[in-house]
Amino acid sequence: MLNVENVSVRFGGLVAVDDISFETRTDSILCIIGPNGAGKTTLFSVLSGFLRPTSGRVRFDDLDISSMRADQVALAGISRTFQIVRPFRDMTVLDNVMVGAYASTRHYHEAREQAMHIIAEVGLDKKRDFLAAYLTLPDLKRLEVAKALATRPTYLLLDEVMAGLNLPEQHQVADMIETIHQRGVGVLLVEHSLAIVQRLGQHVLCMDSGRKIAEGTAEDVIRSEAVQVAYMGVGNV
Ligand SMILES: Nc1ncnc2c1ncn2[C@@H]1O[C@H](COP(=O)(O)OP(=O)(O)O)[C@@H](O)[C@H]1O
Ligand SMILES: [Mg+2]
Repeated sequence: MLNVENVSVRFGGLVAVDDISFETRTDSILCIIGPNGAGKTTLFSVLSGFLRPTSGRVRFDDLDISSMRADQVALAGISRTFQIVRPFRDMTVLDNVMVGAYASTRHYHEAREQAMHIIAEVGLDKKRDFLAAYLTLPDLKRLEVAKALATRPTYLLLDEVMAGLNLPEQHQVADMIETIHQRGVGVLLVEHSLAIVQRLGQHVLCMDSGRKIAEGTAEDVIRSEAVQVAYMGVGNV
């Protein structure tokens, strides 16, 4: 269980995350939507230990992770991808993933085994020995997910992994996310594509200006007046 309790993040005078609370479990996929600047990435930074909340706390089962560092949070079982893909471009796919695998083992063969397994899971096995610099965007997104999976997370946080992909490619990434989720990994996903939100989002949360403005099923959230106003600037007529 991941419990977010009244989390706020201030940058000087700006409240980027404003009193956000929710909970999620490994048996669900949580989609976070909201306009640019809503605070979604900042919230992910708090959940993954890259930022400390100004107030509030995050509990992962019985562990308070709000004041832990990113490496400690990753070891505890929460791993994230970044909105801007940033692989080690001069390293192969396999080596990129092995870097993550070394978080949970010091042994070369174990790290390699684990990395190969994950690379197959994300569908990059044929490109294992390619340099990251030569991957296409959809494959870079898969690599980003593989790097995050290499630390064997309980929860995986995916920040706009579909951005820049066309709809068939988005659905292929959604297939991969469903496979990962089915083996027991909790997934939190920042997503803009409504087709994907409707496909994956049993549980959807919408943020605007740091605040939670709606939460529920994809259908309920997308139809809610607050979300219509935030996205389209119109109320129900
Ligand atoms: N490190 C930072 N310092 C100052 N302001 C920031 C920082 N990171 C994000 N912000 C601001 O916080 C707000 C939320 O940003 P962000 O979390 O990236 O939104 P989203 O991911 O929903 O687009 C924005 O106004 C952004 O400019
Ligand atoms: Mg963002």
